[in-house]
Amino acid sequence: MNKKYTIITYGCQMNHHDSEKISYLLENLGYEKENDIEKSDFIIYNTCLVRENAELKVYGQLGALKNLKRKKPEMIIAVCGCMMQTGDARATIISKYKHVDIIFGTKNISRLPSLISRHRSTGEVIVDIEEEDILDDDTPINREHPFIAYVNIMTGCNNYCTFCIVPYARGKEISRTPESIINEIKELANKGYKEITLLGQNVNSYGKTLRPKVSFPELLKMVNEVEGIERIRFLTSHPKDCSDELIEAIANLDKVCENIHLPFQSGSNRILKDMHRVYTREHYLGLIRKLKEKVPNITLSTDIIVGFPGETEEDFNDTLSLVENVEYDQGFTFLYSIRKGTKAAEMNNQIPHDIKQERFQRLIDTMYDIFYKKNKECVGKTYEVLVEGISKNNSEILTGRTRGYKLVHFKGGKRNIGQLVNVKITGHNSFALEGELV
Ligand code: SAH
Ligand code: SF4
Ligand code: F3S
Repeated sequence: MNKKYTIITYGCQMNHHDSEKISYLLENLGYEKENDIEKSDFIIYNTCLVRENAELKVYGQLGALKNLKRKKPEMIIAVCGCMMQTGDARATIISKYKHVDIIFGTKNISRLPSLISRHRSTGEVIVDIEEEDILDDDTPINREHPFIAYVNIMTGCNNYCTFCIVPYARGKEISRTPESIINEIKELANKGYKEITLLGQNVNSYGKTLRPKVSFPELLKMVNEVEGIERIRFLTSHPKDCSDELIEAIANLDKVCENIHLPFQSGSNRILKDMHRVYTREHYLGLIRKLKEKVPNITLSTDIIVGFPGETEEDFNDTLSLVENVEYDQGFTFLYSIRKGTKAAEMNNQIPHDIKQERFQRLIDTMYDIFYKKNKECVGKTYEVLVEGISKNNSEILTGRTRGYKLVHFKGGKRNIGQLVNVKITGHNSFALEGELV
């Protein structure tokens, strides 16, 4: 019988995509995918440390594994991902979670097979962290989905927003060459993939390090020409580099979906400055105005942080009013979380938890009302939906997404999965639409 593995992934799409590489490497060694930890011979946690919660979950789960490992000593436990790129979390794992066998980072995933064999032959805890910033675009990928794919276009981040640990975990920004990206996408198209999401921490600064330079809108143009691909998405855009050319590209390239995730983080200029976001509220609102003007039907989503050090009631009201002004279709709100090693962690005007929590509640109440209103506007209209699968709760219901990334539930059969269909919207709540096949 083949040995079984389970991967538990936290964090962003980038981490989920890395897990698809890990999955390839393990299956290549003969492991078989399993989702039950108890039945697994190899358990791997791909970690995130963007907020404290993400870290605490990993410690909790690892703690709970101690007993299982005692019962099944031959089981291998590995921890990788962003947490392992920082000395503190790594030291904690090494000293307090002695049942962990293999530790590696985000830049040496392809070395996993050799780490496993080193562990097997020595029985020792193997710690392997690559400090050099490397671009790994060679490790094959075992994709989770048969017709939707993530494609990395760059790694790292040079922005150093003062709240954010990502640049310390993922290193400096490096872009893949357009040739390498386009080859991967052509291969995907040949295999029948319909939708691709281009990934980077800040896709708008794509290509700055390449010689000759290539801009992100230029890359989008090249991807748009790949035959067979029907939809192109990208994550994440930073407002400071969101150019007119990008807005034109969304407007003019037929496969680029009319949707943008454009995190603004705070509506207050004073806080934006302390966050080192390098744009103002006015600049951001200007971008939104242009997007709405040039791209009819554009849907918008964002990330917002509540309770950044020094945030006053007035600053928070600026965030609320920005949300009301833009009217997002979707969005993620986070309580500011102190990340050791970042500039904001050193700021001495941290906001008490109860104030953060109270503002957070007011913000999500406002946002959810807006999502509801935006979804209501869809009722009666017909949208192209890429059918992703069957609903978890009801086997007669299919789920899919519009080009605007709205989740749609509707009645249909298995044969629709992977197809582009038209769905007329008949109902909604704040987070999803309901409809019927046309
Ligand atoms: N590169 C992306 C986001 C990466 S992190 C960008 O720049 O938009 C995803 C989101 O997590 C961020 O947009 C931010 O809203 C949130 N985040 C990052 N650090 C945080 C912290 N210390 N506390 C709370 N939220 C944080
Ligand atoms: Fe973090 Fe800012 Fe980089 Fe995004 S752009 S990953 S928020 S430092
Ligand atoms: Fe988390 Fe690393 Fe992504 S810290 S958000 S998994 S880049």
